[in-house]
Amino acid sequence: MKAVTQTIYGILIAGSVLFASCGSDAHSKQESPPGEQPHPAIPADPGHDLFEQRCAGCHGSDGTAGIGGAADLQTTIADSVAVVQVVSHGRRSMPAFGQALSTTEIGQIARYVKQLHR
Ligand code: HEC
Repeated sequence: MKAVTQTIYGILIAGSVLFASCGSDAHSKQESPPGEQPHPAIPADPGHDLFEQRCAGCHGSDGTAGIGGAADLQTTIADSVAVVQVVSHGRRSMPAFGQALSTTEIGQIARYVKQLHR
């Protein structure tokens, strides 16, 4: 009888140790590894942030402000290639961003400008 009791205690202890380690495992899995988006289902749009920083001052957040003669980006006929071209090299009073932004960033902005289009 004593041996049976010891076995039961042994199972209980082993079980609680397993449970505890499972619990801490699950906890560490909930934390996102560094550099990963906490909500991968709703990724932040880097093009939006860049547009707000670099473009909204003239074009407005919705693309229609037209400050200093800035083109309306909701009605522009410029396609993505043309947007990359204008952003990289500038045009008349629009400054060039080819030095300030990487080609990746300009591509992200061009994708965002496409979303503004109505
Ligand atoms: C200093 C003001 C200013 C800023 C900042 C600016 N733009 Fe412009 N943008 C203009 C002006 C002015 C024009 C019209 C150029 C012309 O007359 O040919 C223009 C034209 C454009 C065009 C051409 C549209 C068409 O129909 O041909 C695009 C695309 C564009 N801008 C995108 C951007 C993006 C993207 C940014 C940010 C990276 C940006 N602009 C930042 C002033 C600005």
